[in-house]
Amino acid sequence: MHAFGVPQRKLHELVKHFVKEMDQGLARDDQDLKMIPSFVTVLPRGTETGVFLGKRVQVPSELKTGRGVDLFDFFAACVQEFLAEIDATTPAAPAERLLGLTFSFPVAQTAIDKGTLMQWCNGYTASGVEGSDPVQMLQAALDRKRLRVRVVALVNDAVGTLVAHAFKDTSTHLGVILGTGTNAAYVERIDRIPKYAGHLPPSSSSSSSAAAAPSQSSGLMVVNTEWGAFDDACIVLPVTQYDLTIDRQSSNPRTYMLEKLVGGMYLAELLRLVLADLVSTGELFGGAQVPALSTRGSIETALLSRIERDHSADLADVRNVLENLVGVPRASTTIVDRRVVKRVAELIGTRSARLVAAGIAAIVTRTHRLNDCTVAIDGSLYENYPHYANRVRDALREIVGVAADNILLVSAHDGSSLGAALVAALIAQ
Ligand code: BGC
Repeated sequence: MHAFGVPQRKLHELVKHFVKEMDQGLARDDQDLKMIPSFVTVLPRGTETGVFLGKRVQVPSELKTGRGVDLFDFFAACVQEFLAEIDATTPAAPAERLLGLTFSFPVAQTAIDKGTLMQWCNGYTASGVEGSDPVQMLQAALDRKRLRVRVVALVNDAVGTLVAHAFKDTSTHLGVILGTGTNAAYVERIDRIPKYAGHLPPSSSSSSSAAAAPSQSSGLMVVNTEWGAFDDACIVLPVTQYDLTIDRQSSNPRTYMLEKLVGGMYLAELLRLVLADLVSTGELFGGAQVPALSTRGSIETALLSRIERDHSADLADVRNVLENLVGVPRASTTIVDRRVVKRVAELIGTRSARLVAAGIAAIVTRTHRLNDCTVAIDGSLYENYPHYANRVRDALREIVGVAADNILLVSAHDGSSLGAALVAALIAQ
């Protein structure tokens, strides 16, 4: 089990490698850390006014893996339904509405409203979208429904989280997503993004590149790191045999390795694999058979949270979870078994938090923000997983010492969807 540990020495090693990969990604395309310029060059000052609308929808799983056009038709139908709700209560609807699309995937952007999807992740495989422009696909779907809506911005969810929180706190320098997947975006000096030099927008331009024009004056740009793909070669990542199994079975093998060690989508599956292994060697539950442990995806992240939340002396809720939700035969768990299960969950959850801390520390030190930095964090893992925030803080202290007190970690619920609306509003101003 010690393979899941991330000791202090390893944290420092990770930070060093992270900074190196940041530099490589800022210099060249096709690196592990994609370091994608977002074309968001102005952050809100908190003085902006207006009505910005945002809505979250659950995407049905068959659409995630079906045809791309159906997925975008679904998005357009959601917009249509949302506008119908709003128009019913708004006396005078504007002639045209501007839409900022939150898109939680790596898109190589060439403008605030242009780019190509590099690859799907997080279980999405919808056909005909990789290599295409999601803005165009959504616009076409909206046009098919004759909606008077123009897509003016494509915003990664990590970028959106940063932008939305900067509206409330101008020290916000990082946006982090800790949900099913993981990612971070931060504010970089344009003169430190060598690969962006070739993309500088012309000064006189169309409506879309006008959005990027303030870059010349601010000298700053939000960079989408796509840190889920950090160290895909696994040079410093503490990868176990279980992570390799998850990777092999994933829809994007050999890529996004950090995400597979951190993201909520993978943690429960890791627990399942470890428990199945311990059962097969007779080390757990007296060797009793537990068929569910052989079934992929049979454990939900919520169970892992429950196991971690049980602090009772006899781990009664761990027993409930194991017997009622995992299918361990009644009365076959001993207190030692339950302690082992809880320990495995702790190791998996703690490793995730410590890896995230290494990423945050790397970005904060590389950008010289150790004296003042707010990190806005959105996502169910950070919000709901017990002890997660404390574990990130503890690891930050181990890495940067007392300066960790200057790094403010803030939960930014729904930041990602609000951010895209805000970027659209900034463009309109
Ligand atoms: C995607 C990122 C996204 C993150 C969090 C990752 O799988 O590649 O673009 O920000 O998930 O949603």
